Amino acid sequence: MPAIFATAPAKAILLGEHAVVYGQPAIAIPLPQLQTKVTILASPIAPSGTIQILSPAIGLDAQITDLAEEHPIKKALSLLANHFNLSNLPAMKVLIHSDIPVAAGLGSGASVSVALIRAVSSFIGHPLHDEQVSAIAFEVEKIHHSTPSGIDNTVITFGRSLLFEHGKAMQFIDLKEAFDLIIADSGEKSSTRETVEMVRHDFQNAPHLYQDYFDNIGILVKQALFALQIGSMNTLGSLLTENQLILNKMKLSTPKLDDLIGAAMQSGALGAKLTGGGGGGCIIALVDSINSSKVRDALTEAGALGVFSVTIKNQNGIN
Ligand code: MEV
Repeated sequence: MPAIFATAPAKAILLGEHAVVYGQPAIAIPLPQLQTKVTILASPIAPSGTIQILSPAIGLDAQITDLAEEHPIKKALSLLANHFNLSNLPAMKVLIHSDIPVAAGLGSGASVSVALIRAVSSFIGHPLHDEQVSAIAFEVEKIHHSTPSGIDNTVITFGRSLLFEHGKAMQFIDLKEAFDLIIADSGEKSSTRETVEMVRHDFQNAPHLYQDYFDNIGILVKQALFALQIGSMNTLGSLLTENQLILNKMKLSTPKLDDLIGAAMQSGALGAKLTGGGGGGCIIALVDSINSSKVRDALTEAGALGVFSVTIKNQNGIN
């Protein structure tokens, strides 16, 4: 049997992280420049349920039975077996390759889940629809932190820029024009579980203050949606920076993230902020063609571990 493979992109949250967990809207974009690829090879002579997992980048080479119940890969496979009413999945070798930095706010975990769910469901002859893939990946996300909003699995599965609000239908965003972002990795590990727990704790201690933060972020997100729809990049830049000010008050930034954001702004970025869970991870800076390379250089000089540029376009091919 030939190998079967599936891919899934990384993601970045443009605005609205954390507030989205509390019911506010948020905007997320896929980053197809960074990919996870999962390849499945049949192991025809091994008994069913014999599953070897190989992920060279994280030094993983294990039998599924050796992984803890709460391991996200084991969880994804057991959710798939349940979905298909199988007591065991067929014997297989699962190879995972990803160029998405881990714990950097770019959705590496959700990307592995989505690619794995797609690859395994195809391997057993029942490729799942995007809604089903996203729903299973959402269940796996609960391992990473107990109250995921669902934004990561959704944008990574559907691969389109979208407005996400818990309990409402997602809205794909029709961009008036393409725009450029520079993404810079601080090299500090970001634990979404820890930052989500910290925010929950602080929200419980200061509910009015945090509700104001969430509401104000929600307003920025709606303004950003409009800015994207009319192609007002200067406005979008200011909104990113305003979002960052609130995230900073919520103690989600770090001195290193602040340095990178400062370097981007001083070299002409239209706006910049952390992206994802925060407490480390990546920043995003909105740039135009004039200042793009200057911002890149400034971020490298400021000590970013990795810096790369992405152009965000309508995924329907219009621009
Ligand atoms: C993580 O990418 C985004 C957070 O808002 C958590 C979530 O939405 O589940 C921090």
